Amino acid sequence: MNKRKMMPKRPRMDNLRGPINNGPIQSRPLVALLDGRDCSIEMPILKDVATVAFCDAQSTSEIHEKVLNEAVGALMWHTIILTKEDLEKFKALKIIVRIGSGVDNIDVKAAGDLGIAVCNVPGYGVEEVADTTLCLILNLYRRTYWLANMVREGKKFTGPEQVREAAQGCARIRGDTLGIVGLGRIGSAVALRAKAFGFNVIFYDPYLPDGIEKSLGLTRVYTLQDLLFQSDCVSLHCTLNEHNHHLINEFTIKQMRPGAFLVNTARGGLVDDDALSSALKQGRIRAALDVHENEPYNAFQGQGGNCPLKDAPNLLCTPHAAFYSDASCTELREMAASEIRRAIVGRVPECLRNCVNKEYFNHSATSGYPDGVNGGYYPPSALQQAHSTTPHEAPLSSGHPTSGGPGNLGVGPGSGGPNSSSAPLPGQMGVPSAGPLSGLPHNIYSSGIGIEIKTKISDS
Ligand SMILES: NC(=O)c1ccc[n+]([C@@H]2O[C@H](COP(=O)([O-])OP(=O)(O)OC[C@H]3O[C@@H](n4cnc5c(N)ncnc54)[C@H](O)[C@@H]3O)[C@@H](O)[C@H]2O)c1
Repeated sequence: MNKRKMMPKRPRMDNLRGPINNGPIQSRPLVALLDGRDCSIEMPILKDVATVAFCDAQSTSEIHEKVLNEAVGALMWHTIILTKEDLEKFKALKIIVRIGSGVDNIDVKAAGDLGIAVCNVPGYGVEEVADTTLCLILNLYRRTYWLANMVREGKKFTGPEQVREAAQGCARIRGDTLGIVGLGRIGSAVALRAKAFGFNVIFYDPYLPDGIEKSLGLTRVYTLQDLLFQSDCVSLHCTLNEHNHHLINEFTIKQMRPGAFLVNTARGGLVDDDALSSALKQGRIRAALDVHENEPYNAFQGQGGNCPLKDAPNLLCTPHAAFYSDASCTELREMAASEIRRAIVGRVPECLRNCVNKEYFNHSATSGYPDGVNGGYYPPSALQQAHSTTPHEAPLSSGHPTSGGPGNLGVGPGSGGPNSSSAPLPGQMGVPSAGPLSGLPHNIYSSGIGIEIKTKISDS
């Protein structure tokens, strides 16, 4: 048998390549992580549609002008603040995604006026924050943290008297009333968990319509004062906004039951530290805080040693870590990057899932952007990949236009836009100092570390 005759005919390679594009290859949209360095999770989700840079900045004054002029997308943790003045420094920005749920460090209205969509990632750590809240509540009731420290310090418990003395203040949970301020995602997750421990759960949330108390089997109160009067333990779960700064202050602490517990895993600005400190020192209440007004200062040693809580007894503090688990952090970053991806391949703000400033969004502010900010060519297949490993993520772009329409950040066949600059990035780490951003070898931005664009380094 003639083996050569049996073998399938090899296709000609030039038939497989498809049409050859003529004309210049345009740069990809620039997406910058403002206040961090690690882009290893975001990179696989974005690398085929964007160039990802990291700035590792604590304020916009540390952000390189390349990013200020050209970044169309920004990812940010909670360690940088974007005021109106900060936002105005960005010339091409269309979307900011907060890697987290709170957006109190961004002027969302000003962003909307400037045509910048602000998104958050609301669902990623609900279980972790709720579990941490219960952990803090249980510590206040069972004093586990303080008792464990006594054992570590070598205290001897030779009989029931020593146990009674050490465990003084341990309280029974069943039948106590837990008051939840803010019955959103986390507040309701806490309520459901607390019921299993035997708490009688009440809540105060003036923004919710009637009926939620029935679906969750809770008791609703209609004033904060009622909640404080009735609760043995108060847990804060509202968002921080312009109406509730220092919601817990000298006046409202006096409305709490003597000996009550206060837990805050929401935002530090909800509590006036001076008032809390004097209430703790007077033995009126006990508290557990995961969040602090002057983060990232240490509540016991920060502010040059002048932190009001420094000598406060019966206080348990954790470092804004309630959201964290390995799983939630991965999910958070994937969800944040996926939102940026939706903005690049779809329309802003229509294709976004968690845009928090739609009501302020000024479409006309973006009319200066022609379709396709970047104008580079990406095959449609690149746009239809589902990158997220999170089970709830639907394929990212099915049904999305692949060529830019109004509000599209510019992926898909099209002509060049204002972001197709080839200005060099002088002297950043990990990037050839003379090379244009658009000409970077693929392996630099697919390496998982991103590109560092930092004023401090490039200016030195
Ligand atoms: N510690 C952490 O690691 C961590 C992680 C995620 C979220 N958070 C914080 O937890 C809080 C809750 O997050 P969420 O995802 O459940 O938010 P959410 O938006 O789902 O719920 C917040 C609820 O608070 C209510 N609310 C607003 N102002 C109120 C007020 N003055 N009094 C009573 N209720 C009020 C709103 O109506 C809403 O129902 C936020 O402050 C968020 O920033 C902390």
